[in-house]
Amino acid sequence: MALIAPSVLSADFGNLRHDIEMMNHSECDWLHLDVMDGVFVPNISFGFPVMKAMAAHSTKPLDVHLMIVQPEKFIREVKALGAKVMNVHYEACTHLHRVVQQIKAEGMMAGVTLNPHTPVSCLEDIIVDLDLVMLMSVNPGFGGQRFIEHSVEKTQRLRRLIDTTGSKALIEIDGGVNRETGARLVAAGADVLVAGSAIFGAADPVAEVAALRAL
Ligand code: DX5
Ligand code: ZN
Repeated sequence: MALIAPSVLSADFGNLRHDIEMMNHSECDWLHLDVMDGVFVPNISFGFPVMKAMAAHSTKPLDVHLMIVQPEKFIREVKALGAKVMNVHYEACTHLHRVVQQIKAEGMMAGVTLNPHTPVSCLEDIIVDLDLVMLMSVNPGFGGQRFIEHSVEKTQRLRRLIDTTGSKALIEIDGGVNRETGARLVAAGADVLVAGSAIFGAADPVAEVAALRAL
């Protein structure tokens, strides 16, 4: 069993309130918000004014995934949303240790995200400080992409790193997650699954959340 974090990136942007309220009535654990800046990733999604409106309608804890350069500039803004988790990319932070401490000082869970090409071993010297590690199982920037198979083995390696160091970090996986890939990720040691197109593209998104949660 894993926690489920539906990604609003695949929701109906013309009817966000409807889709967020639908997730409020589902068994999902967190609501995943993808922020893109057109620099760190080749796409732009939404920013703080839109997230503020979404936060007002959500009864679920917010998991904010910042696909932006210099995410440390926005720690206060993410906190002001009432976010539970702030996910920053390893590749976007020169002084990652400082950023992690600043996120924790604001009372949020500090999550570090790795792009598909970044090895788990890069986290050896910071893993005990982290509340969460998120592995990208697609190249970030778009919903609905094909799952990168290597991510299953990478999840196992991260599980070993966490268990052998005594870290309490949760393992979250983002990209191409559906019932089939999700089952293998849970078996590999994942604690949290993000799913966008698999949930919002389903005929019954609420039932899809329940199915993923039961994996
Ligand atoms: C991709 C985002 C993901 C995305 C996942 O850059 O970080 O959260 O919404 O979408 P699916 O589940 O459709 O791959
Ligand atoms: Zn994401």
